[in-house]
Amino acid sequence: MSEQTLIIIKPDAFERKLIGIILSRFENKGFLIKELKSYIFTKEKAEEFYSDHKNKPFFSELVSFISSSTVVACILEGDNAINIVRQMIGSTRSFEAQPGTIRGDYGLGITNNIIHASDSNESYIKESNVIFT
Ligand code: CMP
Repeated sequence: MSEQTLIIIKPDAFERKLIGIILSRFENKGFLIKELKSYIFTKEKAEEFYSDHKNKPFFSELVSFISSSTVVACILEGDNAINIVRQMIGSTRSFEAQPGTIRGDYGLGITNNIIHASDSNESYIKESNVIFT
């Protein structure tokens, strides 16, 4: 079933000039880039985007990191996009992510873990509305 999902390529990947190589992985897999923009989170937009984590001890670190520099936001479309994109990005803790996944190949951090992807259709709708409206 064709679906859409949102990815955010995070400030660490932007600063390391990994945008092109990460986007090409999704194109090579067969996903269509439906929307693409570079974006700078304000603190308020970052708090809205990550509101599910607002009671977590790492929330302020997460908000501060995601708003620290440019990100690239992208809506991808294709069969089972939500699940497959999550598989492609790998475990949240990059140092545990499998080689061959994006975090496994490019990351070592948790907060600075290269990329975010929506984990459900509900999250996709909420998260994409923060950035693309
Ligand atoms: P992301 O996929 O963007 O979704 C929520 C983010 O919270 C996650 O990636 C990590 O960057 C961050 N995160 C999750 N767990 C921790 C943690 N224990 N400490 C710091 N940041 C975390």
